[in-house]
Amino acid sequence: FNCSRNNRRNTKILMSANEIIRNFAIIAHIDHGKSTLADRLIHKCGGLADREMKEQVLDSMDIERERGITIKAQTVRLNYKAKDGKNYILNIIDTPGHVDFSYEVSRSLSACEGSILIVDSSQGVEAQTLANVYQALENNHEIIPVLNKIDLPAADTEKVKKQIDDVIGIDTSHSINCSGKTGEGVDDILESIVKNLPSPKGSISNPLKSLLVDSWYDSYLGVVILVRVIDGSLKKGMKVKMMSNNTEHTIEKVGVFTPKPQDIDKISSGEIGFIITGIKNLSDTKVGDTICDVSNPIDKPLPGFKPSKPVVFCGLFPVDNSEYQKLKDGLAKLKLNDSSFSYEPEASSALGLGFRCGFLGLLHLEITSQRLEREFDIALITTTPGVIYKINNRNGSVKELQNPTDMPDPTQILSIEEPWIKATIITPDQYLGSVIKICQGKRGSQKNITYSGNRAVLNYELPLNEVVFDFYDQIKSVSSGYASFDYEITGYKEGDLVKMGILVNTEPVDALSMIIHKDFALPQARLVCEKLKELIPKHNFQIPIQATIGGKIIARETIKGYKKDVLTKIHGGGARDRKRKLLDKQKKGKARARQFGKVKIPQEAFIGVLKINKNS
Ligand code: GTP
Repeated sequence: FNCSRNNRRNTKILMSANEIIRNFAIIAHIDHGKSTLADRLIHKCGGLADREMKEQVLDSMDIERERGITIKAQTVRLNYKAKDGKNYILNIIDTPGHVDFSYEVSRSLSACEGSILIVDSSQGVEAQTLANVYQALENNHEIIPVLNKIDLPAADTEKVKKQIDDVIGIDTSHSINCSGKTGEGVDDILESIVKNLPSPKGSISNPLKSLLVDSWYDSYLGVVILVRVIDGSLKKGMKVKMMSNNTEHTIEKVGVFTPKPQDIDKISSGEIGFIITGIKNLSDTKVGDTICDVSNPIDKPLPGFKPSKPVVFCGLFPVDNSEYQKLKDGLAKLKLNDSSFSYEPEASSALGLGFRCGFLGLLHLEITSQRLEREFDIALITTTPGVIYKINNRNGSVKELQNPTDMPDPTQILSIEEPWIKATIITPDQYLGSVIKICQGKRGSQKNITYSGNRAVLNYELPLNEVVFDFYDQIKSVSSGYASFDYEITGYKEGDLVKMGILVNTEPVDALSMIIHKDFALPQARLVCEKLKELIPKHNFQIPIQATIGGKIIARETIKGYKKDVLTKIHGGGARDRKRKLLDKQKKGKARARQFGKVKIPQEAFIGVLKINKNS
């Protein structure tokens, strides 16, 4: 009798506990103002004192601040006293807006019940807005549309509301106009969160069931595990089990981010917080795992997440070979907090020792290589990005290929398949023609066009290989920055693909080989040969540069033999100085040049060729 009365009492406490919790994500296209609004909400709810407020407090990494983009999703817990007089707990998850990081978005969304959808009222609905809304709907989220940046003269809330109706199809009758900059409308957002978003379900009296939302390495706290408790409670000293691998751990610390980490006694059903266990390696925490109580285990884990898979690959090599170990250490450190990229050692006859790395997309690649250069002080060469091809061999075997140098002999290949994407591009209609032209030029096939006012929503199928080069930059540039792009991978299709090799003085140079569509091979071959002719210095003999497909030469340039001494030409004022400078330069050039047979190819030649690939 006592026990059931206790249970009843617990249930009652729980009901009121859950009723005052609201867990929500802020979703938006890049730059529409998520982090700024999150700052406002934190400030309003007193999460940080005035002097502690820096702009975009949730963007903690330097690169995030500098580039103004959110990479890792962040969480913060706030106390809010609503107009109904009750004190609420609000858990905000700030999410990254860029297409490369949509995996982080989906993770954050599964930890909450509602989303605030921000649309910049001077820009309108963008491709990522759509993608994020679909993800939120998949997670059964209640959505509050917020029209942001109303302080801007170009803001047109009525037009953008209509777009939200037309393009996304969600109800805008409860939408809120706001400015993260001036703070206008922020109170209305807080009230709407409390009124319109559902409180979490679950019960504190059930056995512990919690979701491992994210984990990262913090130099101060060690491995931090972000959890959403569905049922029961997590307390200090408790023994818990990771259901994916049955490992048991004792909880050393329980806390929440306010946004500063703050220890508390326990986190219970409906809440989001962090735990610290004895786990030392991030690889022992599996994002999406279910954590339960060792003394009162549950049978069925939560559904978890699909693991993220790298789709864009490239080689990263130190410019100076002696920095190989530094690069290796840097990659290992970055990997600690970014499980979505992969790397393995690669040896290239041209570039020396380096790593073949896999990324979620080009921005992910760019940011990772920038962090390596900046945080670890390593000068890097990045080879042409590529995708994973499926090679169907004549003997029936299938090979996954992500490095052109590993391509089997063409006579053994039956067919090659490449990944395709479904792309959504949203653009003001005056740029539609140019955007379509780019898509066609990248072997795209148009699936659909719809309009809302003067905005066109374009659906295309495209090979990922064509998109990884510079598709996004091109789309941005022809639309003066107004078009937006999002994609998902749909599957593999057979393609007329070939490996183009480059011979310098009849020696193959692996680092310059690439997999390319047959139709694009000839112009590309010519460009590469011309570039190499320009960038490889003359030797005292003639050097043929050839591009080949399956042993057949398709383009050729020749570097003429060189007879005269460079220095004899330098006369006149300051000649000695200039001579010394030139000699120094030659010395440096030599240090970075690689020997291919009798020919030395300077590093700049490799970089030059990689650049034409990116800009072709
Ligand atoms: P990501 O994290 O990269 O996805 O961007 P975000 O959506 O978090 O955008 P962020 O908050 O970083 O804001 C982008 C830019 O818009 C910044 O320069 C902000 O200062 C500016 N901004 C945000 N809100 C407002 C607003 O209400 N009015 C005006 N005028 N500018 C704003």
